[in-house]
Amino acid sequence: MSKNYLNLLDHIAIIMDGNGRWATKRGLPRNVGHKAGVKAIEKTIDACLKYKIKYLTFFAFSTENWKRDEKEINGIFSLLRDYLHDNPYNFNEKGVSVKHIGDLNPFPEDLKNQLLKTEKETSKNKNITVTFALNYGGRDEVVRAINKVLKSDKKGITFDEFKKNLDTKFLPDPDLVIRTSGENRLSNFMLLQMAYSELYFPKVLWPDFNEKELLKALKVFSKRERRFGGIKK
Ligand code: IPE
Ligand code: IPE
Ligand code: MG
Repeated sequence: MSKNYLNLLDHIAIIMDGNGRWATKRGLPRNVGHKAGVKAIEKTIDACLKYKIKYLTFFAFSTENWKRDEKEINGIFSLLRDYLHDNPYNFNEKGVSVKHIGDLNPFPEDLKNQLLKTEKETSKNKNITVTFALNYGGRDEVVRAINKVLKSDKKGITFDEFKKNLDTKFLPDPDLVIRTSGENRLSNFMLLQMAYSELYFPKVLWPDFNEKELLKALKVFSKRERRFGGIKK
């Protein structure tokens, strides 16, 4: 596999799916699956650092995930808050800048504050930007962006101007989108940003994702021919 395609890969976005099934298969509560999913996040960041990927985004909680039981939702929130607080991975040592996309308003104050604190404390890191999509939905993001535009006195707007109102304004569009667990759908993730992304749907459940799985994804990506509406030169 030639390494050159890595120069063309700035941003990998991942729909981490299959935590619940991973746990259920083992007769364990769903939240054990979410906990195991955190290890897969660490392995994936490590692998992306190794291959010098500059942006990595994880879909962690969707605007639709509020439909789940309170126990599961609170479990996910505690996991995230404690993880950011304890910082066992040590984002600063690894040069990871942590960011979020999504509307944080409905989250518990302590989780919100911890996330903003982590973002501030890691903001100068340059090796990789790791973004967590939290209470994120592509449709919700667009509506919030439209409402921002409506507050200005603009009569018309180009897409490039509109983009600056999206949560993702600090991110390039994803080059590669991976959704684990064999589901072939986007579930409201980065709908506008994915217009020309390469999509990859491996069967592996998220907690089992690792460097080997990432390499498989990179290999698939390296064989894709991106044309962006043009023709092969
Ligand atoms: C993805 O795993 C993580 C979140 C949505 C938080 P799931 O919890 O959706 O796992 P499955 O799809 O039920 O296996
Ligand atoms: C998408 O997974 C959301 C996240 C990974 C956070 P879901 O498990 O919520 O999606 P559906 O319900 O299968 O479409
Ligand atoms: Mg799921």
